[in-house]
Amino acid sequence: MTQQTTLITGASSGIGAEFARALAARGSDLVLVARRADRLEKLAASLPAVRTTIVPMDLSGSDAGPRLREALGGQPVTSLINSAGFGTTGLFHELTADRLAAEIALNVAGLVSVVRTFIEPLREHGDGFLVNVASVAAYLANPRMAVYGATKAFVLSFTEALWYESRGTGLRVMVVSPGSTDTEFFDVAGDEGHTGSRMAPEQVVRETLARLDRRDPPPSMVAGRLNRMSVAATRLMSRRRVAISIGDLMTP
Ligand SMILES: NC(=O)c1ccc[n+]([C@@H]2O[C@H](COP(=O)([O-])OP(=O)(O)OC[C@H]3O[C@@H](n4cnc5c(N)ncnc54)[C@H](OP(=O)(O)O)[C@@H]3O)[C@@H](O)[C@H]2O)c1
Repeated sequence: MTQQTTLITGASSGIGAEFARALAARGSDLVLVARRADRLEKLAASLPAVRTTIVPMDLSGSDAGPRLREALGGQPVTSLINSAGFGTTGLFHELTADRLAAEIALNVAGLVSVVRTFIEPLREHGDGFLVNVASVAAYLANPRMAVYGATKAFVLSFTEALWYESRGTGLRVMVVSPGSTDTEFFDVAGDEGHTGSRMAPEQVVRETLARLDRRDPPPSMVAGRLNRMSVAATRLMSRRRVAISIGDLMTP
């Protein structure tokens, strides 16, 4: 990966930070983006000798991509990982409209804007990858996380379409869907009561990179064997049964 410059959103924490560590170990230069500059600086200082640029920035909204390109001042990007995102736990009618709008502004509008801004140079380079992080939530109804699940369903569908559109360009496009993963996600979502087992972010990244290393990666993958089995099982159930099962599971 020594010819690569990988832009990673959401690099200050969790899965994004783990992608940064793994790709630095493979020799990729990095552009790390998130709001918390101190976290990005600390991460950059801990990485092996690759060229690392940090861009402290809020990636919400449909102007996120152009703002990011301007901040980079023409620095080329050959691969892109969109990991920035957050969810909110609670019944839809009890959550504030502002919080829900912020979730859509980052998980959907910001992500589409960043992809639209960088996809042409990525296609022209033709030897990198575009990875978007969705969630197992993308495959299911998500009572108590209704908007979050819907944003991730968007990311899944959007990325699978881009996979098709990118065939023959050399750009590898894939969406990865982790299940519960041990990051700051649940603190941000306000779900301290979540007790299920969690994957390590290292495993999510390891499985994603292993799949990307294949000559013809699939449009989408679910990280974690149990998560893959759960998603497969829901395909055999009625949508009513899935909504009830997940709703019951999510109800404290
Ligand atoms: N953890 C899970 O269980 C899980 C499961 C499935 C999918 N996912 C998805 O995985 C991705 C990574 O989440 P994570 O688990 O690693 O959680 P995390 O530790 O909370 O990381 C989220 C990242 O997004 C960044 N971010 C949040 N708001 C932002 C904004 N407005 N502008 C720019 N950056 C922003 C955060 O940085 P700053 O706060 O510094 O901006 C942080 O780097 C997310 O898309 C999440 O939906 C997580």
